[in-house]
Amino acid sequence: MSRLRMTVNGRPVDLDVPESRYLSEVLRKDLQLTGTKIGCNEAECGICTVLVDGTPVVSCVYPAFKANGTQVETIENLSQDGELHALQQAFLDHGAVQCGICTPGVIMTAKALIEEKKAAGEVLTEEHIAVALKDTFCRCTGYQSISRAILLASGQDVPPLIPVSQPASHSIGKPMPNLQARDKITGEARFTDDYRFAGMLYARTKRANIPHARILSIDTSAARDLAGVHAVLTHEDIPGRNLHGVFITDWPVLCADKVRYAGDAIAIVAADSEEVAAAALDLIAVDYEKLPIVSDAIDAAKPDSPLVHEDRAEGNLLKHIKVIKGDIAAGFAEADTIIDQTYRTPATEHMFLEPECSIGVPAGYSPENFGGICDAAAARGETARHDKTTVYVGSQIPYGDRDQVAATLGLEPESVRIVATLMGGGFGGKEDITGQIHAALLAEKTQRPVKMLYSRQESLLVHPKRHATVIRIRTGATRDGKLTAVEATLYGDGGAYASLSEKVLTRASTHAAGPYDVPNVKVDCFAMYTNNAPSGAFRGFGVTQSCFAVESNMDRLAEQLELDVIEIRRINALDVGSVTSTGQVLRESAGLQECIDLVEQDMRDDSFRWTWEEGNKRFAWGLAVAYKNTGLGGGAPDKASAEVEVWPDDSKGTTAEVRISSAEMGQGLPAVLAACAAEELGIKASAVNVLLGDTDFCPDGGPTTASRQTYVSGNAVRLAAADAAARLEAEPGTPVVVRHDYMAPETKPLGSGGDMHVAFSYCAQAALCEIDMDTGEVSVKKIIAAHDVGRAINPLTLQGQIEGGIVMCIGYTLTEHYIQEDGVPWTDVLARYKIPSIRHTPEISNRIVEHQTSAGPYGAKGVGELPSIPTSAAITNAIYRATGVRMRSLPVDQDELLRAMREQNTEVEMAWGDRKPIPKVALGGEQ
Ligand code: FES
Repeated sequence: MSRLRMTVNGRPVDLDVPESRYLSEVLRKDLQLTGTKIGCNEAECGICTVLVDGTPVVSCVYPAFKANGTQVETIENLSQDGELHALQQAFLDHGAVQCGICTPGVIMTAKALIEEKKAAGEVLTEEHIAVALKDTFCRCTGYQSISRAILLASGQDVPPLIPVSQPASHSIGKPMPNLQARDKITGEARFTDDYRFAGMLYARTKRANIPHARILSIDTSAARDLAGVHAVLTHEDIPGRNLHGVFITDWPVLCADKVRYAGDAIAIVAADSEEVAAAALDLIAVDYEKLPIVSDAIDAAKPDSPLVHEDRAEGNLLKHIKVIKGDIAAGFAEADTIIDQTYRTPATEHMFLEPECSIGVPAGYSPENFGGICDAAAARGETARHDKTTVYVGSQIPYGDRDQVAATLGLEPESVRIVATLMGGGFGGKEDITGQIHAALLAEKTQRPVKMLYSRQESLLVHPKRHATVIRIRTGATRDGKLTAVEATLYGDGGAYASLSEKVLTRASTHAAGPYDVPNVKVDCFAMYTNNAPSGAFRGFGVTQSCFAVESNMDRLAEQLELDVIEIRRINALDVGSVTSTGQVLRESAGLQECIDLVEQDMRDDSFRWTWEEGNKRFAWGLAVAYKNTGLGGGAPDKASAEVEVWPDDSKGTTAEVRISSAEMGQGLPAVLAACAAEELGIKASAVNVLLGDTDFCPDGGPTTASRQTYVSGNAVRLAAADAAARLEAEPGTPVVVRHDYMAPETKPLGSGGDMHVAFSYCAQAALCEIDMDTGEVSVKKIIAAHDVGRAINPLTLQGQIEGGIVMCIGYTLTEHYIQEDGVPWTDVLARYKIPSIRHTPEISNRIVEHQTSAGPYGAKGVGELPSIPTSAAITNAIYRATGVRMRSLPVDQDELLRAMREQNTEVEMAWGDRKPIPKVALGGEQ
């Protein structure tokens, strides 16, 4: 211990701390200044940035004693006497806050920049902002709104919000900051890791770290004997079901006989500190018999492949998904031209900037017994006693988590409570169980609260990824460009456990003919088990992968037929009256043609050229279109229940509360739900409080997946509020509570025809790319986009979803690859995974199309995933136009591109991180 003296936020600090402490630890643990967040502990993400004597520093690796005698400033110091700093206000007004986990670091970096430029008498530019923020990541916003907010705070004008086509009503169509945004910009927002519980222990998990092996023995005796260890649990200590899974329960909570991927859990430890828990892991001895590994979906389908789950009659085949429409042979017989190509897409990582954290609290816990605090309860205005086993977690499926925790603990679901805390991003990656069950098991065993916080490295190792796929696609058309047939075979790497593979790859398959009216379609998709990390939900839900293949083939087709790439899409675009690949007749709300028209109109200004050269740079435009279902569909009951309570008050005005267990991960759901309630009640949206995700107080809104929340939960809230308004009219002045159980229109399972989905959203995107002919470097300079969202309930958060989704897909196209070598992740630290920084962000021009869907709330459809779908094909189509080289694998390998240009090859099939060429795929799947 040594004496540390500094000034923090204007107050002197004088305390004894270990010399190994980092500044972030002093701020968060010793001073309880939890506004500073931790994303990686690697000095890579920058979200922990604070100011030391006015200079931004990355506090997670900044030795605390280096700050001795300095002035340290954190986010908590910015607003004074309740008055927001100009930067905070601008972030609020421009929707520059989504999940908010990065916001404190981004704002502190921006504050230093504005002060530096002001002192130098310079006018702040976008280039200054890009340089200052190049090492501070935001995974949600796409940086555009951040840049606008910083310019505004420096006193400059910024472009207005994207226009919507429909006039605003009382609350619908009006821009509104998300409800929790104010807490996120002031540092008051508490994420799971920010909560304190008296008597809390710290947990760690013993991981397999080998991808496939039989467990011969597990010896935990030495770990149990370590001072400070309170519990070490293995599969033998599980009172209930030792399996979990969102859809199919095949994933061991703690492995008993075998490990199937490197992230498998063997044992869990609760101890007085994280350090002791980590030391205990090293004392757990596990003997293995190593087994052969299968790490490729196509190899997994071979008869001699090692079996991941030996007891399955289907071997490694998780699901064969089939889509059939019309007569595929007749369709190709009608075609004048056929394009037949195979593409590959990589496994990718969500990289939400808040690593997973769960805090389990045992039934009967009272902090008084430990002489201390329970700020999680205090923040919610509740008594600190916990009557039930409770888990605090940022989860995309709170009720699903409740049921899974209860099943493993051998309890009734009602005996478990999930309190959904703020989530620092999810993007599909927080649908599966990670630490929730482990934290609850340890809490019940020790009768103490237990925090299970993953390091960035553990997060990378454990949670499901986006499916790697190999897609062969054969597209036939007549010489005038009309599609006659699409046949596709997809192999999807599902990894070691089922997670959501069947659902994701079904969506990849049903969208594998693209947003086109194709009379004859045949798709075979093979979801395979391997010894890689499980694959699961990821924004785009499989459609991102198939869209890349479909839209690459469409450009090839246009070239072969000497047709305009826009025109060929217009000729075939789904419209009202079209029939989808699964036999659904579109009766309304199909705005793809308008999206294409608007993008073309914006592209083709007076100086428009498809391609041109400037020195050693070539520039070109590429185009792609996409569609995405709203809601679960496929015959699954899609239900959301909401409660609306209204307190009429003549003197202060009527206020209301919406209660629903639907997850907010930064997408802006609370503001949407508040707008729906306010519209029906005729009150201001700001008079509506929204309580999300507490299974004891909020009815079930269902999973946050499939772009469903605005539609399904929005309808539940709308109808509950309408009922409340009617009751208030009948009995004025009387408070009312109304619950509405909303069931989305019935859908049909795949293969049975009819309506497989309640609605579809559509988009067109054009990408302007610059290619350096000397280096192969690809930069996206501009995206022009138009999205048909049905109705823009909140244009501010909608813009954020579109910009953020597009930039996420730029990363998917150019830099992101979760690399596994024989089942062992090479991508084991954040530094080995490149998400887009502000430097990768192009100018984005947005158009909103509003073809309303009759059963959606005020006509709205889902938009969370759609913007992330066509961008990759738009970029690679632009690369082809500029260079003549067709990229068949993602992410684009710029060295391979350069080599192809020099050697005059027209096809590149190796992506960065690939070890072998794209394997051959037989149509129909025969090996
Ligand atoms: Fe920036 Fe979520 S708002 S990471």
